[in-house]
This record gives sequence, structure tokens and C-alpha cells, in this order.
Amino acid sequence: MTAAYEQHLVPVVFQPFAADLAARAAALRPRCVLELAAGTGALTSALRSAVPSAEVTATDLNEDMVAFGSARCSGATWRQADAQRLPFPDGGFDLVACQFGVMFFPDRVGAFTEVRRVLTPGGRFLFNTWGPLGAHGFEVALQAGLERAFPHDPPRFLRTVPHGYADPAVVAADLTAAGFTVEDEQELTLRGRAGSIADLADGYLTGTPVRAAVEERGADPAVRATVIEEMRTRLGPGPATAPMTAYVFRAAA
Ligand SMILES: C[S@@+](CC[C@H](N)C(=O)[O-])C[C@H]1O[C@@H](n2cnc3c(N)ncnc32)[C@H](O)[C@@H]1O
Repeated sequence: MTAAYEQHLVPVVFQPFAADLAARAAALRPRCVLELAAGTGALTSALRSAVPSAEVTATDLNEDMVAFGSARCSGATWRQADAQRLPFPDGGFDLVACQFGVMFFPDRVGAFTEVRRVLTPGGRFLFNTWGPLGAHGFEVALQAGLERAFPHDPPRFLRTVPHGYADPAVVAADLTAAGFTVEDEQELTLRGRAGSIADLADGYLTGTPVRAAVEERGADPAVRATVIEEMRTRLGPGPATAPMTAYVFRAAA
């Protein structure tokens, strides 16, 4: 699952936003950075390049991600950690960064409160979240494929988790509830480029929780073919490009 995520999804969907977030981080000139939900290390590597003088500690809930990330990006210190219970003392970091992770935290205000605790006073929290599903060209095509394959009971993961925290006013209110001052909030649309629609579909169908949702509905090999066909109808035969909309937040502790 981790390898499929890294191979098929990171270059298309996550890398463009990692470059953006790392450039924003560099402008803050941090010395000690904590990354949450670091996954396989897309942002971690970008941070190491953009801010080589900073110490970077990368964390993720999932042990497999931590193992993969630490092999991929050995210049950071890697540690397994739940963002809602950070195993770090108060005030140890001047920047906490997180790429497309906060949507996965069941208790966001609790996680943001933890982030503020581990930041120095005035330290920054920099992160992005996905916009609505309809504003992500690849994922709306994937969801259409899943709805064609499972017309009565389509998997709802994309709609409810990655794209389920897509109201910037709610995000800003959660930050304020955790004691942050929201300094900046931007909508950002970048284009992803997928060399192969089949590889992209495989990335989602085997490298994300969509896999479990499909398996729960039975192991029908026709599902993959249906999803790829629908994605090709919407995106073209490939290579394909599509817009992807996110919100980027910077908040001060
Ligand atoms: C969409 S991936 C993003 C990974 C990486 N930031 C990237 O840009 O490729 C979401 C990540 O959130 C992690 N995650 C989910 N719940 C978490 C939690 N409570 N604390 C920390 N990480 C969590 C998952 O293990 C996964 O690696």
C-alpha cells in the first residue's frame, strides 16, 4: 500500500503542493521543524531541500509510512506519533508543518491544541487541506468510476475524509478554538500531471483507504477496469493533467 502511494500518487498529486508548502516554510526561516502526518516524506524531502539548515522531525501515525519515509528521507529524524498526542515537550519547535493530514485527525481542535503546545510562543503552524471533491479533477473522476462500479453503495472515503474538511471557515474556527491566530488563508489550485491513467487508478485503488472500501464490497476484478474506463472517459486516455484545489493556512501560536 505504501509503495503504491509513493509510486503512483505522490508525483502526481502530492509533489506539487509539497514544493509550494516548502517554499512557504523557507520564507519563515525556521530552525526546528516538526512535520505531522508526513506519510512517505514528500514534504519532508522538499523541506530538507528548501531549508537545509533546519532540523526536521517527521512523524506519522502509521508505522509503515514512518519506515518508508525514514528510508526515503534520512536527513530528517523520523518517529511514529499520533498528531492528537504528540510525544514532545512544550515549546520545542518554531514551525509545525503538515501536508494533507489534518482531515484525517478525528479531533482537530485537540490536535491543533497539541500543535500549539509544542510550538514556541509566536511559532507557526503551516498546513494545507483539500478543497471540495468537485475541485479535484483526478479524484472526481475516480469517484465517478467508483460510483459506476458500485451504483448502489459507492465508497464514500474521498468525499468524507480527504475532502470532508473543505470549508475554510470551519478550519479557521478550529484553529481559533485551539488558541491560534490565523495569519493567512489562501485557496491554491495547482495542476497535476499523470503519465498513465491506469497507474493513477492503481495508486488510489491499492495505495489509499479506497482499497479497503472496495475489498469490503467484494473482490471483483471488473471494478478496476470500470474505474479506469470512467477515468479515461473524463480525463482522456493519458497522459492527463487536471486541476487540484487546496487551502493553505498559516497560523501563529
Ligand atoms: C494523505 S496522507 C499525506 C501524507 C504526506 N503528508 C504526503 O503529503 O504525502 C495522510 C497521512 O496522515 C496520516 N495520519 C492519519 N491519521 C493521523 C494521526 N492521527 N496522526 C498522525 N498522522 C495521521 C496517515 O498515516 C497518512 O500518512
